[in-house]
Amino acid sequence: MYDDIQEILFDQEQLAQKCQELANQVNEDYKNKELVLVGILKGSFMFMSDLVKRTTIPLEIEFMAVSSYGSSTESSGVVRILKDLDTDIKGKHVLLVEDIIDSGTTLTYLMDYLKGRGAASVEIMCLLDKPARRTQVLPVRYVGYVIPDAFIIGYGIDYAERYRNLPFVATLKEEVYRSKD
Ligand code: IMP
Ligand code: MG
Repeated sequence: MYDDIQEILFDQEQLAQKCQELANQVNEDYKNKELVLVGILKGSFMFMSDLVKRTTIPLEIEFMAVSSYGSSTESSGVVRILKDLDTDIKGKHVLLVEDIIDSGTTLTYLMDYLKGRGAASVEIMCLLDKPARRTQVLPVRYVGYVIPDAFIIGYGIDYAERYRNLPFVATLKEEVYRSKD
């Protein structure tokens, strides 16, 4: 697994610090509001965990799962809900927690969907943002890091379901995904 890594972009210490900064903003912006954090599975699970343990305001935690890449490194452009919310979000403030934004297709769809379910507000937080590949106009309220166009693995983020368990964010060697696509 470690042989497939090209470069470590953000290590555990940097990620912990970033989660603290983002949690501080959430604590401030959502105090006295009914907040539901919605993590997008599976990629956001580690980020979500490190983020919420640093929040100090009352909130609910939900997860949704949507289909995205399959085993390819290119998005299909089609979004399908595989796991929906368990509770009613009507009148509540929703903050979508995503690992990485690429084209923006997934979150554009989810934002509309959640607004349609009667949320008081829907905002987006992502750990990593790849604006170079954006095809949708998407208002992202909280961004951990803006990164160049490279294929990312680790800290919950996969390539073909592997590498999610790496505790840091890294780039994948091109030869690894070139050989399988
Ligand atoms: P979008 O709909 O094109 O913005 O794609 C967003 C989804 O694609 C994210 O939830 C990620 O799971 C996945 N994704 C985007 N870029 C990468 C990457 O570099 N590595 C792994 N997954 C990625
Ligand atoms: Mg993914």
